[in-house]
Amino acid sequence: MPPTTTQIKQLVSAARKAAGIAYAPYSKFQVGSAILTKSGNIYTGCNVENASYGLCICAERTAIFNAVASGEKKLNVECVVVYTSTEKATAPCGACRQVIFEFGPKARVISTCRGNERIDRPITELLPDAFGPEDLL
Ligand code: THU
Repeated sequence: MPPTTTQIKQLVSAARKAAGIAYAPYSKFQVGSAILTKSGNIYTGCNVENASYGLCICAERTAIFNAVASGEKKLNVECVVVYTSTEKATAPCGACRQVIFEFGPKARVISTCRGNERIDRPITELLPDAFGPEDLL
């Protein structure tokens, strides 16, 4: 089922809260994410950086890995919300798009921010002709 307006509001609020606890001392770019699963659960994540810069992980992947690590069975991501406290909305990076597709090939991805901009697209538009689990069958 596609997310309801109420669920989207909950996701935006959860993503905003998650951005507030991001560990981003190097970029100072704090990102929060919240995902809605087909089972109706919400999981959150924030970016977590490292002095060894290449080890930084984005908020979106943290949220999805949080769902897996929380024991969510047959994870099916219906919606991903990203929040940044910026004027412009931030779309997920390429690596996160690939991970979103793995668990949510039909996911709706909404990037929100402090400003008015909102990017709202299906993952299939953000990652056309994606490689995924089906390709290995
Ligand atoms: N980042 C995210 O968490 N999500 C995005 O969609 C874009 C980038 C993080 C990674 C890094 O910690 C910081 O933002 C700057 O790139």
